[in-house]
Amino acid sequence: MNKRVAIIGAGPCGLSQLRAFQQAQARGADIPDLVCFERQSDWGGLWHYTWRTGLDEHGEPVHCSMYRYLWTNGPKESLEFGDYSFEEHFGKPIPSFPPYAVLNNYILGRAERSDVRKYVRFGTAVRRIAWSADTGRFTVRSTDLAEQTDREEEFDHVIVATGHFSVPNVPSFEGIDRFPGRVLHAHDFRDALEFKGKRLLIVGSSYSAEDIALQNLKYGAASVTCSYRTGAMGFKWPEGIEELPLVTKFEGATAHFKDGSTREFDAVILCTGYQHHFPFMEDELRLRTTNRLWPGGLYKGVMWIGNPNLAYLGMQDQYYTFSMFDAQAWYVRDVILGRIELPSREDMEADCAVWRAREEALADPIQDIDFQTAYCKDLSAPTDYEIDWDVQSDNFKHWEHHKEEDIATYRDHAHRSPVTGTQAPTHHTTWWDALDDSLETFMDNR
Ligand SMILES: Cc1cc2nc3c(=O)[nH]c(=O)nc-3n(C[C@H](O)[C@H](O)[C@H](O)COP(=O)(O)OP(=O)(O)OC[C@H]3O[C@@H](n4cnc5c(N)ncnc54)[C@H](O)[C@@H]3O)c2cc1C
Ligand SMILES: NC(=O)c1ccc[n+]([C@@H]2O[C@H](COP(=O)([O-])OP(=O)(O)OC[C@H]3O[C@@H](n4cnc5c(N)ncnc54)[C@H](OP(=O)(O)O)[C@@H]3O)[C@@H](O)[C@H]2O)c1
Repeated sequence: MNKRVAIIGAGPCGLSQLRAFQQAQARGADIPDLVCFERQSDWGGLWHYTWRTGLDEHGEPVHCSMYRYLWTNGPKESLEFGDYSFEEHFGKPIPSFPPYAVLNNYILGRAERSDVRKYVRFGTAVRRIAWSADTGRFTVRSTDLAEQTDREEEFDHVIVATGHFSVPNVPSFEGIDRFPGRVLHAHDFRDALEFKGKRLLIVGSSYSAEDIALQNLKYGAASVTCSYRTGAMGFKWPEGIEELPLVTKFEGATAHFKDGSTREFDAVILCTGYQHHFPFMEDELRLRTTNRLWPGGLYKGVMWIGNPNLAYLGMQDQYYTFSMFDAQAWYVRDVILGRIELPSREDMEADCAVWRAREEALADPIQDIDFQTAYCKDLSAPTDYEIDWDVQSDNFKHWEHHKEEDIATYRDHAHRSPVTGTQAPTHHTTWWDALDDSLETFMDNR
């Protein structure tokens, strides 16, 4: 087989794609030539933590949006790989909510064991992807960042796995330019200790706002006020966190809110989400969407309907992560290997429209979870990817319930593995009291 496939990004999605091809090869399939382009010096995507913010050592935008002391915000059992359990990786059952170093170790463990590093060109940024109807191939232009040299190559298929939680969405507010303290977006947040003793304003009401608020209080912020645009998060917050409607303007250190109230702050963190940003894609290949469960234009949520030689991985808003990325990668692999035949463009569009209509009717998080579970099942059905989606889904629903009960303790609960069936042990320290997030301390399961 002499087809050439370009995978852009060696984060969890790109690694799922490499693993999918490697697994097919191990089972006797002839696989295409693979090149995975990765801008960073190592793999893991967002999970590759760096202290840097702004630009990196090559003048490229820093990809990392992770921060110190970040623990998974969903049960690990709901993101577990179907073909590689946590128990297999760590040699024993571990608690359900590990810190990022532990999750990173797990993701990379499967990649290392699959021997797929040889496909990755590190320190190589993709600059331009264009399609030629004449050759029926894509031209991919990339830059070797150390050498500062450009290269153009042709590929039969392109798989975009560059993530969508890295380019911040940054709104502005009247008077914020004269706020006397630090103003930053969550993308640049690295260490809660910076805000110890400070009065913190957080704008936004989703996962980043929730976690950055809790974390700052945990590490000693004097107070945290979360300001929402559409709706309050509505959790039973620990003392020290409050929610107010949207900030309307700043006068010096004083913020004014939509309900007429005012507060003074020392720092502002904009937890206002991220943009789907693909500057390297030529216009007609570029996905344009907000962060939602069913982005348009993608058959089965992955194949670019306008040109199915192109696929996008992981572009959905995410309850499911690693196992969904696997299901997507297995599906895309099987299309490329000719094991799955795609229907006509009209049928792909009609199918996509049905999913979009279902998505638009969703009314609460439980329905969201059911929707994404149905999607994952639909996607994996024609492939040999196996996992018990119902166990992953049940874990998510219990997790939602635990969050509503107490947002400060949901990470202390234990969930069941969809791969081994094992019920996780509880952690030796409650999340609130666990200030050391190192892998070594976490693994010390007394
Ligand atoms: C703060 C934060 C916390 C999160 N916490 C969790 C969690 O607890 N649990 C969970 O399951 N998920 C979490 N997520 C969700 C996260 O989206 C996924 O876990 C996962 O990282 C997505 O994988 P990805 O491969 O799609 O993208 P990414 O992880 O973003 O990886 C994309 C890769 O593409 C590379 N790249 C980008 N542009 C180019 C280019 N032009 N050329 C070459 N390479 C390029 C990047 O360098 C990067 O390595 C979190 C996200 C954020 C922002
Ligand atoms: N492991 C962890 O603990 C952890 C921590 C942080 C993040 N994450 C992950 O990171 C991903 C991204 O989460 P996210 O919260 O950054 O993004 P998100 O889920 O897309 O939410 C964006 C938020 O920004 C708000 N917003 C956007 N524009 C605004 C404006 N102009 N004014 C006021 N508010 C505005 C939105 O409000 P509206 O509702 O009004 O649109 C929404 O609340 C998720 O997958 C999450 O799981 C995980």
